Amino acid sequence: MSVDTLTIPTQCVPQSRISELDFNNIEFGKIFADHMLVADYKDGAWQNPEIKPYGNMSLSPATSALHYGQAIFEGMKAYKNADGDILLFRPLDNFKRLNISGDRMCIPELPEEIFMQGLEQLLRLDAAWVPPTAGCALYIRPFIFATDEFIGVRPSSSYRFMVFSCPVGAYYGQPLRVAIEPNYVRSAEGGAGYAKAAGNYGAALYPARKMQERGYHQLIWTDSREHKYIEESGTMNVMFVIDDRIVTPAVSTTILSGITRDSVLQIARDKGIPVEERKVAVSEIVEAHKAGKLQEAFGTGTAATIAQIATIHYNGEDMDLPAIEGREISNGIAAELDRIKTGQAPDPHSWIYKISL
Ligand code: COI
Repeated sequence: MSVDTLTIPTQCVPQSRISELDFNNIEFGKIFADHMLVADYKDGAWQNPEIKPYGNMSLSPATSALHYGQAIFEGMKAYKNADGDILLFRPLDNFKRLNISGDRMCIPELPEEIFMQGLEQLLRLDAAWVPPTAGCALYIRPFIFATDEFIGVRPSSSYRFMVFSCPVGAYYGQPLRVAIEPNYVRSAEGGAGYAKAAGNYGAALYPARKMQERGYHQLIWTDSREHKYIEESGTMNVMFVIDDRIVTPAVSTTILSGITRDSVLQIARDKGIPVEERKVAVSEIVEAHKAGKLQEAFGTGTAATIAQIATIHYNGEDMDLPAIEGREISNGIAAELDRIKTGQAPDPHSWIYKISL
């Protein structure tokens, strides 16, 4: 199968639901575009990709993903340029990461042509759902889950791959108050923290809720051995600006290799901003704040893009960071990233996959 030869059978909706959407008031993740892509893995091969109306599906109560969490996902975004073309941001990187997560979770490799041709056909069909509005995008959710009807614990022999999408605005409505987590862990060495596995997110809900009850939007995860080193923030990678340098934890087996993270660091390097990817100790952040050198902090992720951090809590104290408006480094990178994604700036790293309508 190649992208040129594979044409995915398509069943279109009789009538679009797009009139339900208020493009000036889009809430994250609540209204889904008209169509979805479905392909199944059985008898040792991915097969029968099809596009059909977005809708419920029927599953056996014994579906193994529901019990043991053999499930992975991706998040990616599409934008519109001034000519009305759809611009997908780094889809091949999402495709590669999906299979990296799949490898860790014993999920068979998905062929590139099903992913890319599926996306291309799906987006052509649902082009009207890609918001033209500044600050908005079509969020695309590819995912795979185990479908064996079997409650013994073993890798499933059948899987379903699906993609649906939803128009989105900002993920976080305001700058974040985050707290450094001294007890719970998101992932440990040898675990699956680098994979975008559903269970990583489910297990994070309880510690996040406890922090929310204390008045913080999210937490900053620390390492599982000593809680001394910073890992991620909520569902995002995290970056700090100290002394005009971007400092961020290096990716490892415990940290998700974020595509927005990589894009932000690349733009920083292109702009000549020094970048340090290494272990970042909590004490370094506290000391930098005390010395007035902690200029900026922000999370990076597909959903949030760049989420500014206003306050970091640690050990009983709130560290308030400088005002968001003055954050030249992250605001400058965010604006440049946005221009690249929407076709308003050159794309020197070939991140954009254009679908001309
Ligand atoms: C993303 O940024 O796409 C994420 O994975 C966060 C999310 C779970 C909404």
